[in-house]
Amino acid sequence: MDRIEYQVIRSLSKSSLSLWQIINAQDGDIRSTIAVLKRLKERGFIDSDGYNITLTSSGRDFVLSYMKEFVDSKCPRCFGTGLIINERFKKTLEDFEKIFEGRPLESAEFDQGVVPAENSVRRVEFIYKRGDLEGKSILFLGDDDLTSVAMAMTELPGEIVVIEIDERVVNYINEVSRKLGLNLQAYIYNAVNPLPEELKGRFDTFLNDPVETVKGIRVFLSRCVAALKGEGSAGYFGLSHYESSLKKWIQVEKDLLSMNLVITDVLRDFNVYLLTGERILKEGFRVVVESPFKPTAPDYPWYRSTFFRVEVVGCPNPLVTETVEWNRDIYFDEDTYVALP
Ligand SMILES: [Fe+2]
Repeated sequence: MDRIEYQVIRSLSKSSLSLWQIINAQDGDIRSTIAVLKRLKERGFIDSDGYNITLTSSGRDFVLSYMKEFVDSKCPRCFGTGLIINERFKKTLEDFEKIFEGRPLESAEFDQGVVPAENSVRRVEFIYKRGDLEGKSILFLGDDDLTSVAMAMTELPGEIVVIEIDERVVNYINEVSRKLGLNLQAYIYNAVNPLPEELKGRFDTFLNDPVETVKGIRVFLSRCVAALKGEGSAGYFGLSHYESSLKKWIQVEKDLLSMNLVITDVLRDFNVYLLTGERILKEGFRVVVESPFKPTAPDYPWYRSTFFRVEVVGCPNPLVTETVEWNRDIYFDEDTYVALP
């Protein structure tokens, strides 16, 4: 039994679970999880109770012969993130929630998926804790969840620049920034193009939530790295294990080292995304279409990505500096289960 299979059946040992909860309970990619569920169904070990996936009696016998009932030791206060919303940032969250509600709705065209307001503030807190926020010049490559606004509202950063492909997001950020007098500017930019000269070598910190392909991540992070000042500059990005197998992770990590970036922090499943409701069932996503049991609509932000902090040792060394051709393999690969190819 491999580790993913072990984690999946162990998660069911205590209670029946939705497809989304099972995905949350394992460390692999969605493709492997679906394959495990298909195998367990074929062996008669799991079934659907019409709502959740549950162990059959032979499944239960099998599980109990291998393992004890699962206990979850995750901290219930911070949900395992290690951070709570501190008093200092509570006002930021309250103010930011109003701005967040008025945002342009996310678009599948750019593979957008936004994190809830509280998640944005937690990210800001983590970056603050690491010393990459106060007085720093910060670049966002893409910011559909408006974390730049939450960040600017803390009045801690020196300057924030957002470069973003979606004109609606750019306009909204600039409008909010003007209204609230924030030190935050947004510009339209497509990452297939080289980073504009005036942004090169100017920033202490970058944030990016890249697409989930090796090529896409290489392009996106290269643009970010070109924006950094030098040794000690830092970057933050999300990478899921849901749509990126460890085969992809190893390639991404090799790229990071080639760019003279060292990984200092890996916060597993730190970012959650608002991919909820009936619409997820109707999109034709592989996670739904290929599931051996018809899933119910997710009623909580189940999709997660791991939050990386990287730091420059030596000189920032972007791997891609030229214009790249826009094509679908920047956005999609065989692990894509929650977007439409
Ligand atoms: Fe905790």
